[in-house]
Amino acid sequence: MTGGDEARRAIRGSSGRTSGGTSAGGAGPGGGAGEPAGRPGEPAIIVRPDAVSAAAAVAETLTDALEAAAARRGRADLASTGGSTPAAVYRALLAEPLRGRVPWAVLHVWVGDDRFVPRGDPNGNMGPIDRVLLPGVPEMGLAPPPLDPEHLHPWPTDAALAAGRSAAACAAAFEETLRAELAVDATGRPVFDAVLVGIGPDGHVLSVFPGSAAFEAPGWTTWAPAPLHVEPHLERVTLTPRALDATPGLVVAAFGAAKAAIVADLLGPAHAGPDRDERTLPALRARRAGATWVLDAAAAAGLAADDPRRVG
Ligand code: 6PG
Repeated sequence: MTGGDEARRAIRGSSGRTSGGTSAGGAGPGGGAGEPAGRPGEPAIIVRPDAVSAAAAVAETLTDALEAAAARRGRADLASTGGSTPAAVYRALLAEPLRGRVPWAVLHVWVGDDRFVPRGDPNGNMGPIDRVLLPGVPEMGLAPPPLDPEHLHPWPTDAALAAGRSAAACAAAFEETLRAELAVDATGRPVFDAVLVGIGPDGHVLSVFPGSAAFEAPGWTTWAPAPLHVEPHLERVTLTPRALDATPGLVVAAFGAAKAAIVADLLGPAHAGPDRDERTLPALRARRAGATWVLDAAAAAGLAADDPRRVG
């Protein structure tokens, strides 16, 4: 089975849907279509031997979701992530065979969270987009993609900082853009066609850290004070957990031995039930039917080889 076959199975999950849209129901906590409230189900898990092949599987899974959305509604919205994962994923998207399948002309690119810093700051999550995705990688023969610059939607940190506005104001401004651009599901959640997230060693997802007030935030975006327990110690702007719930193409990427313990915990039996504590481990929000967790062998070391959720 190819990564694409696995991804299509994973994206369909238990709901049978293959892509999102204006009427897409989510399968996340809180009761999406086909999932009882409080019983989010289980993700598919793909394990690859190393980080490079795992990044390729992430890219293929995202491409499947974006391609399906473009075919169905003529547009595809991707929310990408920061951290160490995206650069290799972007390289895989820029190379054949995926390059020819990504619906570049109708692709809109967002970032799920960012640090409250100017666009060019090395700590910003636009870095991999600006350094790899947009220019391509000429030394690897990867040309820039035909992505419409108008379809790139960074968090408006530059404008907020220039005007002396707060991270909270920046998050609110971004939410206005999201609401103007994105499809919305029947319960008022944004529908990205694909969302890529990483997970932190403390179980954070996006910039939603353990104990985060983001769980109480009523909207799609919020801000977070600079975390003291993980670097960089910078204020954040981020999607809220509910903004992950309606995407049919939620992909969690975790590579490397340093992720093995938190991956085993997040996907382990202690958090299988509906009473799991997302406020302590926010990445549990992504443990749900319809999501795909893509791991390299090192990150998957704590999972059983015959885990029934494994699709590859
Ligand atoms: C950020 C990210 C964050 C990241 C995880 C995992 O801004 O830091 O959005 O949620 O994805 O910390 O990062 P790695 O993939 O680099 O381990």
